Amino acid sequence: MQHFSNNDHLAGDEAVEAVSRYVAGLQRVMPPATGSGRALDAGAAEFARSCASCHGPRGQAVASRGIPALARQHASYLERKMREAAAGQNSIGQSHRAIISRIPPERAEAIADWLSREPL
Ligand code: HEC
Repeated sequence: MQHFSNNDHLAGDEAVEAVSRYVAGLQRVMPPATGSGRALDAGAAEFARSCASCHGPRGQAVASRGIPALARQHASYLERKMREAAAGQNSIGQSHRAIISRIPPERAEAIADWLSREPL
């Protein structure tokens, strides 16, 4: 989302906000691609331990704090976002990087798989 919503593509904060509002209101018609389903309990437990304090108990958006929905995203997308965050390759910030980089890859895969199956 960041690539399309930065100021190289949209002129100013108002345009970014308008596009964000529009996209947030769209219905998702395709079910998300999930992972293997092998470690869903471990994914849920790790999410509760490490992520739910900010992302809510099931990864739904917290609009008042600018927190995006993680539930019902493609598992592979979530895994990529976590890899990028752990490597400092996005703008989410250092504290998020520290949290994500503690999660081993197979656990990140389990979190992503579990989130992709959670209702919005
Ligand atoms: C201290 C609060 C906090 C904690 C704890 C936290 N996050 Fe986040 N996370 C955020 C915020 C805020 C954003 C949105 C930042 C932005 O878009 O600039 C975010 C964004 C993300 C994104 C990007 C979503 C997207 O669509 O681009 C992913 C993936 C993510 N978090 C996963 C996790 C996972 C997995 C954990 C636990 C291991 C976690 N976060 C723990 C606050 C947190």
